[in-house]
Amino acid sequence: MALSNARVHYHIAGGTKTSMDRTDWAELSEPVRHAITAYTGPVLSAETASDGLNSAIAMSVRTSTNTIFVKGLRTDHPGVVTQHREAMINPHVLSVSPRLRWHIDGVDGWNLLGFDYIPGRHADYRPGSPDLPKVIAAMRRLGQIPCPDLPIKQAEKRWADYVDDSMDLECLRGDALLHTDYNPLNILIYDRGAHIIDWAWPTRGAAFIDPACLILRLIAAGHTPTQAETSVAQAPAWNQASKRAIDIFAVANSRLWRQIATNDPHPWKTHMAAVVDQWAQHRLYGRHSHRTPALQPARAG
Ligand SMILES: Nc1ncnc2c1ncn2[C@@H]1O[C@H](COP(=O)(O)OP(=O)(O)OP(=O)(O)O)[C@@H](O)[C@H]1O
Ligand SMILES: [Mg+2]
Repeated sequence: MALSNARVHYHIAGGTKTSMDRTDWAELSEPVRHAITAYTGPVLSAETASDGLNSAIAMSVRTSTNTIFVKGLRTDHPGVVTQHREAMINPHVLSVSPRLRWHIDGVDGWNLLGFDYIPGRHADYRPGSPDLPKVIAAMRRLGQIPCPDLPIKQAEKRWADYVDDSMDLECLRGDALLHTDYNPLNILIYDRGAHIIDWAWPTRGAAFIDPACLILRLIAAGHTPTQAETSVAQAPAWNQASKRAIDIFAVANSRLWRQIATNDPHPWKTHMAAVVDQWAQHRLYGRHSHRTPALQPARAG
């Protein structure tokens, strides 16, 4: 296994992000606001979220009785498929994610999802963070959900272009339901635990893949590879995986992220490429176990 010579495409979480201007409540047309309030009742106030990159609409709307988080894209946006994926998987992931209350598809050209609002904050992934046990606990709860029989992505296909030998893909095949995008902006910490949000890339595959995806983000936040691997050791899926399977996944991701950063050398993508390369080097050669300085401000993915 080498870290180069990959046939690469640009098609997994984090690979297609461009920031976009958000549309606020006041900018929505009357039919769209009417469609939302038909579900929520009269809206008293609305606040657009400042984090996340993909959704043209990401806002909390407050009524006299509760708050709903509204996430939306234009129906002709190529990324709108992620809205449908989130709607499809949501009933199956309620032990780790906020409930989807409604889905509006096609009012005035918008596709909108209305979730229960989580009054939380983003996870802190730095070494020693008290958030990490909550994140691992959420990952363990997710690991207990049987993968539903739905047309979701398969790990052995998502990473197919990043391995040397197609036989290696057998290591990624499995029956676990995976989130795969452990960007800290996709983890909301609340008083009793962590919610995993933004199910744009639900995937069926080997159970160790989710802990591995978290490892990348922990290294990005300042863990050494060894520290990051120790942090996820509480996840049974990690301990049951073969060393070779993890090595194959690390190398595949280093190729993927290098291509992402080459296509669009945005600082967070370049940082992630360096991080994943560091982890792959650590896996293969047991070196480069120093820290990659965390990108500040942490806005990766
Ligand atoms: N149910 C919720 N309750 C409260 N805040 C939420 C909720 N869902 C999302 N958010 C906030 O909105 C931000 C963006 O949401 P989300 O990650 O789902 O969308 P996105 O724009 O597609 O992001 P990304 O760029 O990561 O794909 C989150 O980082 C979080 O701060
Ligand atoms: Mg997100």
